Amino acid sequence: MVQASAPGKCILFGEHAVVYGQPAVAVAIDQRMTVSFQLSEEWRIDGMKFNNKKHPHVEALRERLWENGPPLSIKISGDIPPASGLGSSASLSVAAAAGLRCSRGRNILDDDWAEGWTASRPNDVYNGPGTATKGDYVENGAQSVDEDECAILAHAVEAFAQGGKASPLDSSTCSHGGCIVLSDKVESDLVWLYSRELNGVRWEVHSVTLPKELEEAYLVIGSTGVHAPTSIQVSKVAKMLEDSPERMAEIETIGIVARRGISALMNGDLDAMGKAMSENHLILRNLGLSCPELESLISAAAPSSLGVKLTGAGGGGCIVALTKDPKTTSEAIELAGGRTLISSIGASGMSIDSDENCPLWNPLK
Ligand code: PMV
Repeated sequence: MVQASAPGKCILFGEHAVVYGQPAVAVAIDQRMTVSFQLSEEWRIDGMKFNNKKHPHVEALRERLWENGPPLSIKISGDIPPASGLGSSASLSVAAAAGLRCSRGRNILDDDWAEGWTASRPNDVYNGPGTATKGDYVENGAQSVDEDECAILAHAVEAFAQGGKASPLDSSTCSHGGCIVLSDKVESDLVWLYSRELNGVRWEVHSVTLPKELEEAYLVIGSTGVHAPTSIQVSKVAKMLEDSPERMAEIETIGIVARRGISALMNGDLDAMGKAMSENHLILRNLGLSCPELESLISAAAPSSLGVKLTGAGGGGCIVALTKDPKTTSEAIELAGGRTLISSIGASGMSIDSDENCPLWNPLK
């Protein structure tokens, strides 16, 4: 049996402004998705017959990494609530990519460093460059799994499942863990990982080394339970900027605040980090991206927090509070009607939790 897991993510700075090239910062959270694979008589998922329409991410990975492979029984579990901006689909995609890669080993032939993400699929929505170094070795099990590869595969299948629209923020954060910064240019103070490109948009993906001071604080994520699709929120901002181009100044201000937030993060300055989060929220609120439910959770969390903001697309979804007293903050949010999750800042990335009897399938035999 092969089992792999990956964390969810939470955006700390820069949502929406990232669509216009400003930096966005996400951290991995303690909540994870776990996927296991076992050889089986027929394709099954959670005990039921596999339905590819219900599981587009798994289906896209199956086509890419398991073409003509033997049937598998797949089990999915986890504690990341779906459709709440916490990266549940990217986390699932990363864990499934890692699990399938582990299950078949790595058989590098020619230039196909990460077979299945583009080269053999010229018409795929995903046509970005792969930048990791090619190796030509054959390995099995956990050793054959690579974070860059799982990030690019997860980005490809997210794009596939979402009709061509996906930034690599979720896939990279869920794969590498820690803290990831996306920007339209290489940020000189950060560790540059790779570029990603999709439909003519290019992102530079960086990681941030988190200092130990951050271990003193927690994130409390509060869900409003209100569902607001990301695409609608993004269109709302686009329309506003079309009608009032001068409001691009607010988007640029989010970029300035996000950069200040990144410095605070890197210096382990929790007070400055919290301040930047709250400031980021005020600009998002001014842009019309908050809602009464979010504001009520934010007011409840504020007294016991260093900073608090909406996280993700807004209009509903979740808030994130930075706090040294997660119990008090969480109780306050729950009293105001929110459901909460508590996480440390920058959890570890994807992992192979079991690689028993690998490979489950050797495509070269
Ligand atoms: O809530 P999420 O994780 O879908 O975040 C949306 C982030 C946006 O900046 C609003 C959109 C995007 O594609 O970056």
